[in-house]
Amino acid sequence: MTNRRDFLTTIGLAATGITLAPLSACSQDAPRIPSGPEDKPLGAIADVTPLAAALLTRPIPSSGQALPVIGAGTSGSYEVPLASTEFDALKEVVRVFFEGGGSVIDTSPNYSNAEDVVGALLADGGWRDRCFIATKLAADSRDALEAQWADSLRRLRTDRVELLQVHNLRNLGEALPYARELQQAGKTKYIGITHYLERGHADTARIMRDEKPDFVQINYSVNAPQAARTIFPLAQELGIAVIVNRAFDDGKLFAAVRDKPLPGWADDVEVTSWAQMFLKFVVSHPAVTVVIPATGRPDRQADNLKGGTGPLLSQAQQDELVALFG
Ligand SMILES: NC(=O)c1ccc[n+]([C@@H]2O[C@H](COP(=O)([O-])OP(=O)(O)OC[C@H]3O[C@@H](n4cnc5c(N)ncnc54)[C@H](OP(=O)(O)O)[C@@H]3O)[C@@H](O)[C@H]2O)c1
Repeated sequence: MTNRRDFLTTIGLAATGITLAPLSACSQDAPRIPSGPEDKPLGAIADVTPLAAALLTRPIPSSGQALPVIGAGTSGSYEVPLASTEFDALKEVVRVFFEGGGSVIDTSPNYSNAEDVVGALLADGGWRDRCFIATKLAADSRDALEAQWADSLRRLRTDRVELLQVHNLRNLGEALPYARELQQAGKTKYIGITHYLERGHADTARIMRDEKPDFVQINYSVNAPQAARTIFPLAQELGIAVIVNRAFDDGKLFAAVRDKPLPGWADDVEVTSWAQMFLKFVVSHPAVTVVIPATGRPDRQADNLKGGTGPLLSQAQQDELVALFG
């Protein structure tokens, strides 16, 4: 039976294009408020129990395909030796991620061995069919792009990816046409462009207008909210899916909240940690399709998934967070 709160949430989500993924989800028994990346021993395994609510999803504008709003990044957190404690922890991270309803994993040939790690994790765990792999092109000549792409497929242990992005707009004149060729050949379902700094927003916006890729990936967080002015309205106008990187400002936001209590209204939006609050801030913007926080720790992965469940933040709550961290 639908209670009043569920009903109101559904109504609110309908207005933002959000739906709920019908998957069992996982989380910690008693979610903690993380104080910093170093506050838990590496390799600690999360005590995961089913989440109370399903992970929200949003459609990719160019196809209508629904994606869970919480994805995973791999920069740093997945750049670990293949036989190591860190790799064993990542096996648990991806189990929590996929069993919790996650799908999008973002990587790049530029993240040292992260593609090898993703490929091994997907193959070992049998997760490839559940994974929406997003990788990148980042090379300075046609020959180098072709060699890099062949390498990416080998390292990811796949014959295609779901999304191929031009990394930081690098060598766009050769990389984007090559990505389109691969899309036409069925080697990637979608193409996109990425940047991660405010100073890249103007060029990113120009290319969005000129090239209309399926996806744009950009930075957005409580302390760097500029994309809500520069990129998001344009993405909505042009029908481009948005992936958000750096939602935690590369982890720096956790130092800023070490002794800070959550806002008094956190319970109302079913948020029990700052990680969930930072992610819920991002997905509360209706232009955002998926946010890709990176972690190598299972308990944090479970915590991050919870940021994509329950009620979204009102505009006033989003503004309050920006004022707090700006
Ligand atoms: N130009 C581009 O295309 C571009 C640029 C930047 C980023 N990206 C993509 O976006 C992804 C995300 O960006 P990012 O990795 O730079 O930064 P981020 O997601 O903002 O922050 C990652 C940091 O937060 C920590 N962390 C994660 N979850 C946590 C939690 N629940 N509690 C406490 N700490 C937590 C991680 O440490 P632990 O691993 O120790 O948990 C890591 O140090 C990247 O991995 C990459 O895939 C793309």
